[in-house]
Amino acid sequence: MEPDWLKHFPQADKSALQALLAEKAAWVGQEKKGFLRYRKPLETVAHIRAQHCDFSSEMVSIGQAGELDAAGQKLIRQTLEAFIPWRKGPFSVFGVEVDAEWRSERKWARLLPELPDLAGKTVADIGCNNGYYMFRMAAHRPACVLGLEPFVQHHYAFRLLNGLAGQPNLHSELLGIEHLPLFPSCFDVIFCMGILYHRSSPIEALKSVWTALKPGGTLLLESQIIPGAEPVALFPEKSYAKAPGVWFVPTASCLVAWLKRVGFQQVRLFCRHTMDSREQRRTAWMRYESYADFVDRHDLSRTVEGLPAPWRAFFTAQRP
Ligand SMILES: C[S@@+](CC[C@H](N)C(=O)[O-])C[C@H]1O[C@@H](n2cnc3c(N)ncnc32)[C@H](O)[C@@H]1O
Repeated sequence: MEPDWLKHFPQADKSALQALLAEKAAWVGQEKKGFLRYRKPLETVAHIRAQHCDFSSEMVSIGQAGELDAAGQKLIRQTLEAFIPWRKGPFSVFGVEVDAEWRSERKWARLLPELPDLAGKTVADIGCNNGYYMFRMAAHRPACVLGLEPFVQHHYAFRLLNGLAGQPNLHSELLGIEHLPLFPSCFDVIFCMGILYHRSSPIEALKSVWTALKPGGTLLLESQIIPGAEPVALFPEKSYAKAPGVWFVPTASCLVAWLKRVGFQQVRLFCRHTMDSREQRRTAWMRYESYADFVDRHDLSRTVEGLPAPWRAFFTAQRP
């Protein structure tokens, strides 16, 4: 069956997408522990729907405490706990506060002054995780936000949250940035945040973003960068800040050059900042190592590998 969101994308390669989605559905539909551990808790709250949601404040709020009795509250807490570790947040779900590893509201606040008008627009959020930013986008009345998130845990965390929130214009699929070629000229706005340095070919990734934007469409890009004026990129030998999946970490000017050479216009760096352990930290909802464990504790400008510690930078760019 055709997913509801596909009607917003007449240019998409429908048959290839439907075949891919059917394959993914069969994969996660298996009776295996790794899938059941998320599917089962999801089913236990399938009957619950929030009456009041608020996506306009820092804490994404889905349902209020008073909407459920004590047993319902307990069930919600247990279900949320089944999805630990929570990476992005904060959320308040029927009054249960999920203090995630990342203070994602800070990233949203940085890009808010540059947010294009999302009303009635088609939007992609690449690597949407549990959908924190998609809920924040929902406050701006987009026609459709499609999250691309290949990780099963994050995919089901979004399904849990939106099952409770019931937002008909928010969707997430088990897809990745590599599937963007199936969406030629489809999106008015693409968010690509925290993704590029995880790609072994960042130029190919940017090309696929360019192709998936409609002409005149806007890219909002956020990435780790290293400080420095030269247009160069760091290539860690094994890991970067303990992450083995990091390939190229550019300077801001290098990233601007990548965007321009891919064909983007009106490329603009609008914010950059250092990282710290107030924004990414261990909490009761994410009990593993976090930022403080990734940098040299005696010299916070270096990672544990002795490399320049990451900054974060935000860019806008247009497909002409
Ligand atoms: C560093 S997190 C960034 C999450 C979020 N976009 C943000 O800015 O906070 C990277 C996200 O990309 C997802 N991801 C991993 N492989 C991906 C791929 N091939 N395409 C798109 N997203 C991917 C991860 O599961 C994770 O949710």
